[in-house]
Amino acid sequence: MTTITSKIVLTVTVLALSLGAEAAEVTGKILIGADNEPGQWLSVGRTYDEQRFSPLNQITAGNVGQLALTWFADFDTNRGQEASPLVINGRLYVTTAWSKVFAYDAKTGKPLWNYDPQVSGGTGIKGCCDVVNRGLAAFGNKLYLGAYDGRLIALNALTGKVEWQVDTVDQARSYTITGAPRVANGKVFIGNGGAEIGVRGYISAYDANDGKLLWRFFTVPGDPSRPQENTALEKALSTWTGDLFWQLGGGTVWDGILYDPVTNLVYFGTGNGTPWVAEARSPQGGDNLFLNSIIAVKADTGEYVWHYQVTPSESWDFDATSPLMMAELVFNGDKHRTLMQADKNGFFYALDAATGQLLAADAFTTVTWATHVDMQTGRPVEVPAAHFGKTGQPVAVQPGAQGAHSWHPMSYSPNTGFVYVPFVETVSAFAPDPNYKARQGTANTAMGRAGPEVMKNLPEDAPRTSRAWLLAWDPVARKEVWRSDMRGTIASGALSTAGGLVFQGSQKGELNAFRDSDGKQLWSFAAQTGVVAAPVSYAIDGEQYIAQLAGYGTRDYYTPNHSRLLVFKLNGKAQLPPAGELPPPRPLNPPADFGTADQLMLGAETWNVYCVMCHETAYGNRGLFPDLRYSPLLHSAEGFRAVVLDGALEARGMVSFKQRFGALEAEAVRVYLTQRANQAKLAAAAPRP
Ligand code: HEC
Repeated sequence: MTTITSKIVLTVTVLALSLGAEAAEVTGKILIGADNEPGQWLSVGRTYDEQRFSPLNQITAGNVGQLALTWFADFDTNRGQEASPLVINGRLYVTTAWSKVFAYDAKTGKPLWNYDPQVSGGTGIKGCCDVVNRGLAAFGNKLYLGAYDGRLIALNALTGKVEWQVDTVDQARSYTITGAPRVANGKVFIGNGGAEIGVRGYISAYDANDGKLLWRFFTVPGDPSRPQENTALEKALSTWTGDLFWQLGGGTVWDGILYDPVTNLVYFGTGNGTPWVAEARSPQGGDNLFLNSIIAVKADTGEYVWHYQVTPSESWDFDATSPLMMAELVFNGDKHRTLMQADKNGFFYALDAATGQLLAADAFTTVTWATHVDMQTGRPVEVPAAHFGKTGQPVAVQPGAQGAHSWHPMSYSPNTGFVYVPFVETVSAFAPDPNYKARQGTANTAMGRAGPEVMKNLPEDAPRTSRAWLLAWDPVARKEVWRSDMRGTIASGALSTAGGLVFQGSQKGELNAFRDSDGKQLWSFAAQTGVVAAPVSYAIDGEQYIAQLAGYGTRDYYTPNHSRLLVFKLNGKAQLPPAGELPPPRPLNPPADFGTADQLMLGAETWNVYCVMCHETAYGNRGLFPDLRYSPLLHSAEGFRAVVLDGALEARGMVSFKQRFGALEAEAVRVYLTQRANQAKLAAAAPRP
């Protein structure tokens, strides 16, 4: 526990807040001093260091047994819910899937206003994963929302009225926004996603007052025949080969962004390249800067300061976009302002915030693509067989493409000195696609089918399906301290508190509290739905609250997902309505195989290009989208066409493919899916997602 700052808050001090009074504005000074406002939660990570630690200590290991629901709110969308709420001046603000915003009286749950940016269902196809949103930023009397369709929207925090909105992306390309904006020095920082779908990544700064674009930093070079936007990109050009890269791009800034008032730098992580396979994207090699990197730029100008490339020449979807966190830590006797990230690639990194010097890099889970990180060069020492693009041979790699730790917020307790990391043990089978053709507007992975043999050679204890855990990591001793019991297959965000507790949900449908020192589970709440977002804590009138956004499929797409905000306090009196019986699972009941060999081939190809991305991702069906082998529409050519071509379910995010192909392809996909469904039926019990 070699932490420099030890924040000991003995009593809960809470400002007397009254909703009737003109609410105080969130100024730059208040944001910098957010630690002096333990009762509020002013930015997604609570404070600029994004430690997600609440200094409130009313709820403790001793009394957490009395923690109970005090109010809840139901939402109207059954897609994934990933946001951390903000709590400002007695109001709680939360975003849901489809970028909707809801405001409540934080004490009573009384709805105050809501805002729907009317993101069209058709934009669902622009993203890789889900139409989620991870939260808001606040400044002055405004809230800032990144909408899924690429708009940055400023709302009046008191009324929910739009103050201004700007389009931050080229609508001809598949850009989306799921991450939370950050605010500092009167500027709003916002990134975007879409790497495998062929977009060039960047982060932008807008004037918080009027939405004027102030600067933009691109993460990968543009057209090499033109001057690059800055000298850092000119240099980055030499790390690329071929001519695909500047047409497809990649390196999107879709989650982790951190502003530090001490260095006055903005830090952000960049995503994978387009396509995934390094050899397909940059045929003569090269590190491909600034993919999979942590980058520091000047907050005022966007000027490059330093970068650390976490996974050079990357092929496994190891985005470096996971949340970033700052703390003052001591390494080798020297105090450093330390930027931390638990990366998708399985290593926990600590970097000096001013210089980017690598302070620590250690595997926090089984890693098979590299043996270790060379602390002299800062580069991973790779296992040659893992580079399937080079060898041409399929290979199983840990972590898998899901990543050991993705967007799920981690938390640092200055009291224990531990970082609480929600992580997943995964494995993926990777193989190159020798026939890869670059495409605009749909998933570009350049991955082929690896075949089940690859998985057979895995060690016995390797995870055949993903296994999620909560890990307490000591960043200074550079080792694991404890881990929870298994938490299902998907990670969930964490919150630590001065009450000696760590809160974390689970996709199985729980919210739990663990003792921060040893991981002993002390409390659990049955949430009736999967919980993946991170909880937050606030206080009003001397009472501490825990707020958790819930809503994620627990079984499959057709299991009701009770998207809800759950708010707890000691001796709360609210109760959820009974969950009710789950509907029976859809039966696997396809028609008999039909169609020709040509149709089968066309169907498989169409499926791989246009449908896999949602209906069958690289890491298995996650319940976010229907498993079409179970669809009753396999029995109806007309019904299938109505959905796939005429857009019958477009408002629900199943877009029309009319612009991309015709009835021939639609019917061919039905032929192909029918065959897959019959194969699954033959294999007795098809594995349910
Ligand atoms: C961007 C994500 C996305 C992509 C890409 C996508 N779908 Fe869908 N699809 C969905 C969603 C979401 C639903 C569920 C809609 C609902 O709630 O009813 C769905 C539902 C369906 C259904 C109805 C299933 C049922 O039983 O009700 C069919 C059929 C379907 N999709 C076919 C396809 C085909 C064929 C492709 C490729 C050509 C495809 N989809 C690509 C998101 C997608």
